[in-house]
Amino acid sequence: MPNSWSSSRLDLHITLDAAAGRRAGLESALRQAIRQGRLPAGTLLPSTRGLAQELALSRGTVSAAYGQLVEEGYLTTRPGSGTKVAEAAQCAQAPACRAPAPATPRHDLRPGLPDVSAFPTRAWLAATRRVLTHARPEVFGAGDPQGRIELRNALADYLGRTRGVITTPDRIVITSGHYQGLGLLSGVLATNGTRDAAVEDPGHNLFREVVQRAGLTTIALPVDTHGARVDALTQRTGAVFLTPSHQYPTGVPLHPGRRRRLYAWARSTGGLIVEDDYDGEYRYDRRPVGALQGVAPDHVVYCGTASKTLAPALRLAWMVLPPHLVQPVTRAKQQADLYTETLGQLVLADLITTHAYDRHVRAARLRYRRRRELLLGRLTAHPGLTAHGVPAGLHTLVTLSSDGPTEDELLAGCAQRGVALRGLTELRHDLDGRPQGLLIGFAAPSERAYPAALDALSAALAPAVGAVRQPA
Ligand SMILES: Cc1ncc(COP(=O)(O)O)c(C=O)c1O
Repeated sequence: MPNSWSSSRLDLHITLDAAAGRRAGLESALRQAIRQGRLPAGTLLPSTRGLAQELALSRGTVSAAYGQLVEEGYLTTRPGSGTKVAEAAQCAQAPACRAPAPATPRHDLRPGLPDVSAFPTRAWLAATRRVLTHARPEVFGAGDPQGRIELRNALADYLGRTRGVITTPDRIVITSGHYQGLGLLSGVLATNGTRDAAVEDPGHNLFREVVQRAGLTTIALPVDTHGARVDALTQRTGAVFLTPSHQYPTGVPLHPGRRRRLYAWARSTGGLIVEDDYDGEYRYDRRPVGALQGVAPDHVVYCGTASKTLAPALRLAWMVLPPHLVQPVTRAKQQADLYTETLGQLVLADLITTHAYDRHVRAARLRYRRRRELLLGRLTAHPGLTAHGVPAGLHTLVTLSSDGPTEDELLAGCAQRGVALRGLTELRHDLDGRPQGLLIGFAAPSERAYPAALDALSAALAPAVGAVRQPA
């Protein structure tokens, strides 16, 4: 018969075999739970008094069962710390009950990841305390599919001040990451009759796939040293997805002439511009170029994220939408997962309004700028590698010369030395034989780990010897 009991604030579920007798039945049920890994090593068991009460057994029966299992090595007992499942019992009997933590790369130079070891834990804790101290009960109830008004208010001010975005809070929708936002928006466009969407080539493969899965046909928009070739947009193209401040992955900003051409295309065709401003805060040689949205707010969807400024784990991103898209995207968000988790939104709103967010971004900008310089310094030792892009963002693209080692060879060398980064090929829309390359992130390692990561990278790139051409 199954029994649940709670004692010492512990809940546990076991099945007692009535036919086995009271003490033997309890011993056997506990043994089985430990063997199956349902009671992992270190688990504190209920007190003999509590367990006896819950199972309607005598305390002596429970004590005797515990004693027997201590002798057999399943349990340990120490005065003052109660009875626990023994480590040895766990290893011998249920080795697979705890999944190991996933391996993290020894040298993490994956592009696009911030240094999460510098997450502003203290500021986040202080903001959390403020939020919880002042929270009205409704905060813990059902959330708003469009996103908490506190965060939308904070973002409307922040994006206007720092990125030149023109918006009011009612045009913002909060999503669980840009990944989700892009999927929702693409779904709405597909439902409303958009068929063809232009995407940058090369561009982020995951995001391209999101657009395709939503039912849009993606058309490759080639990228050159001036950014996306917007002259290739046609009357038929319903939407264009771009990273204009810092093209992903080449790192070039969209040329001012192309920006103008893009606005003209949107105005004359009614096409929609979707601006992914994923790392717009990080420009190292000058003030960042303002968002496209600030010039044509009725033709542009502006997308931002906390994944690069704070941490991808927060899953907090936002879209600033033209008025006609606010309601359909909010409805799509509600249908997808009701609303984004509320407390994180309130904490982020607090960080932004108290300017702790600005301070964190400014400090990160200084660190990443120095790291990028260190990386480019190292790359000068390798001929056949050409670094691209302006001083910005969290990664650098290097392309390979045709007479040196291939992308696969260099990636294999990196993997051997525990260096994680990405190849350019998988970011191509059309997988033809155009220049191969590597995307090297310079932000993810902690400050302490970064020099060793650069050493390992230099060693892995040794086959590509000589002088790198610096970006213009
Ligand atoms: C080009 C680009 N845009 C946006 C994002 C942010 O995505 P998310 O907010 O889902 O973490 C990333 C993160 O990898 C990215 O590389």
